[in-house]
Amino acid sequence: MSSVEREPWPEEAQIRPMHELDVPVVVAIERAAYQFPWSEGIFRDCLRVGYVCRVIDVGAGTAGYGIMSIGAGEAHILNVCIRDGHRGRGLARKLLIYLLDSARASGMNEAFLEVRPSNTVAGHLYRSLGFEQVGVRRGYYQASIGREDAAVLRRALLSGPA
Ligand SMILES: CC(C)(COP(=O)(O)OP(=O)(O)OC[C@H]1O[C@@H](n2cnc3c(N)ncnc32)[C@H](O)[C@@H]1OP(=O)(O)O)[C@@H](O)C(=O)NCCC(=O)NCCS
Repeated sequence: MSSVEREPWPEEAQIRPMHELDVPVVVAIERAAYQFPWSEGIFRDCLRVGYVCRVIDVGAGTAGYGIMSIGAGEAHILNVCIRDGHRGRGLARKLLIYLLDSARASGMNEAFLEVRPSNTVAGHLYRSLGFEQVGVRRGYYQASIGREDAAVLRRALLSGPA
């Protein structure tokens, strides 16, 4: 792609609710990003049960998405993914700040998420947003050989910047 054709920068990124019609694109991004992707049915279930499902558009295309459940004072960030080619431009950070702000606005006190310890990029991002490890779920993730633990990360919501 030439610099003239290069896609717009994150200032032009827009976060909006995910709709059923977005699911095929979201699933394509998911499959390209993860070795063990969520199925199309999981995304449809997330929409059906009313989780906070958002996509981030850059120009005319969808660059990524974020999914969060909220309830009983807790937000759980279940999936954040940015399409390869749009990474490293601050889009995941923007999406996470949006999700944390919206959890806070809904009265949630704290946010949790799980991450593979091998996912150092995501780990850096979450820690830079104030998440700290509070536990480990043994064998939580599928892996090429056997299972991989999940690090459980938490941050408070009612004080401090996103
Ligand atoms: C993890 C992911 C969501 C980050 O998306 P992104 O839009 O590239 O992230 P950002 O541009 O907002 O970067 C935010 C931070 O991530 C970290 N980061 C991003 N790219 C990085 C890289 N190549 N190496 C190390 N850290 C990196 C940095 O801490 C960065 O902060 P900085 O810009 O202040 O240096 C993206 O790589 C992705 O979708 N990966 C596949 C799916 C996935 O692993 N999701 C998380 C599951 S828990």
